[in-house]
Amino acid sequence: MKKLYIKTFGCQMNVYDSERMADVLAPTGYTPTQAPEDADMVILNTCHIREKASEKVFSDLGRLRVLKQRAQDQQNRQMLIAVAGCVAQAEGEEITRRAPYVDMVVGPQTYHRLPELVAKADPAARKSVVDTEFPEEVKFDFLPEEASPRGPAAFLSVQEGCDKFCSFCVVPYTRGAEFSRPAAQILDEARRLVAGGTKEITLLGQNVNAWHGTPADNRGEWGLGRLLRELAEIDGLERLRYTTSHPLDMDEALMTAHRDIPALMPYLHLPVQSGSDSILSAMNRRHTADDYRRIIDRLRTLRPDIALSGDFIVGFPGESDKDFADTIKLVSDVGYASAYSFKYSARPGTPASGADGQIDEQVKSDRLAALQQLLDAQQLAFNKKCEGMRLPVLIEKQGSRDGQMTGRSPFMQSVYLSGEASWIGRIMDLDITEARQNSLLCTPAAASTKGAA
Ligand code: 5AD
Ligand code: SF4
Repeated sequence: MKKLYIKTFGCQMNVYDSERMADVLAPTGYTPTQAPEDADMVILNTCHIREKASEKVFSDLGRLRVLKQRAQDQQNRQMLIAVAGCVAQAEGEEITRRAPYVDMVVGPQTYHRLPELVAKADPAARKSVVDTEFPEEVKFDFLPEEASPRGPAAFLSVQEGCDKFCSFCVVPYTRGAEFSRPAAQILDEARRLVAGGTKEITLLGQNVNAWHGTPADNRGEWGLGRLLRELAEIDGLERLRYTTSHPLDMDEALMTAHRDIPALMPYLHLPVQSGSDSILSAMNRRHTADDYRRIIDRLRTLRPDIALSGDFIVGFPGESDKDFADTIKLVSDVGYASAYSFKYSARPGTPASGADGQIDEQVKSDRLAALQQLLDAQQLAFNKKCEGMRLPVLIEKQGSRDGQMTGRSPFMQSVYLSGEASWIGRIMDLDITEARQNSLLCTPAAASTKGAA
């Protein structure tokens, strides 16, 4: 048996892709390992969204070069190195030039061809084989159906790529044009997951709520709201989520799904990026801050307990103090349960990277600190409100401490408790005893061990 080590950077889509790469390579004799030094193949599944994320790849490659050399010198063992994901797609040539000891470079749309690339790779050649095409064929049609069980909470990719072209974002270039997987294929994969013990499925897509498809009987067109309704019919599928969404695609059918589908968890990640209309326009987001507020109001009318999450960028070119104040105002108005916020990072090839009015690093840092202070306070307040509540928690895995188990609340909070491994996969009603900044605790005494199996 050969050993495969995959390191995943970036978004949940990459987590899903890494699992699929392992599935694709399994029939060729690779089994996963947690130790890169023992691996016969190492894959870095990379992220290009911000500069920091892509820089990490080159520092990791430097370390892998040493491991590869050591395997060769001390054990006469070949270690293959592959770079996959969005840095591979965007900077394939740069990688082969700067790191010729990399054996394979494979983009997000061609990793189903990994076995062929492995066959072509020649570790002695100091030359990479590169496959960063956007091929005619769709990789999902080539991924093995028989995969190892993926645990109580699994990802399912339903949509990829993006046609929105926000002016800061590399995704339309690295992941390509928007594509929706056929409904029948998604429903099949969901049924297989549930048969393997999965209780919660998170539908993934760079623009997941742009998903659209034709049902098997070819009648009409489905949007994501309809797909969620169909998935909710699967026996044993207890929880549904989806991420990540664009406000423009938040249609009424999807919003009412939050009212009508008990399995659809009361949590939504809906990035707005900025609260300023002029910055939203410069970002090519094609909606205003008030459009976003109206969507949130509608969602809260339909599902009053819905917890909201978002993404924010500070220091976008041209962002004035007033624009930033509009973002703070929007955050104050909406109230988030959690959020991700970033300093604008100019990405090569995107329209905003060459725009006038690039913002000073210190200003970006100050704005980010102010925004994060507000978002952290909102998150803590949200968590505090859960103290004393009884919440259904899906126990997902063991925690890092002895005897500790961890799972997620309906609102996506991490929950920790003392418990037994046999509880994994159960949805248990737990009494929340203490709220922290990033998690909730409950005591074993309060934990109802009779939760639904
Ligand atoms: N700079 C900073 N943040 C970015 N994001 C995407 N591109 C950039 C960039 N160039 C953020 C957005 C997006 C999230 C996934 O990453 O907030 O929603
Ligand atoms: Fe990037 Fe905008 Fe597409 Fe999201 S919607 S992936 S931010 S271009």
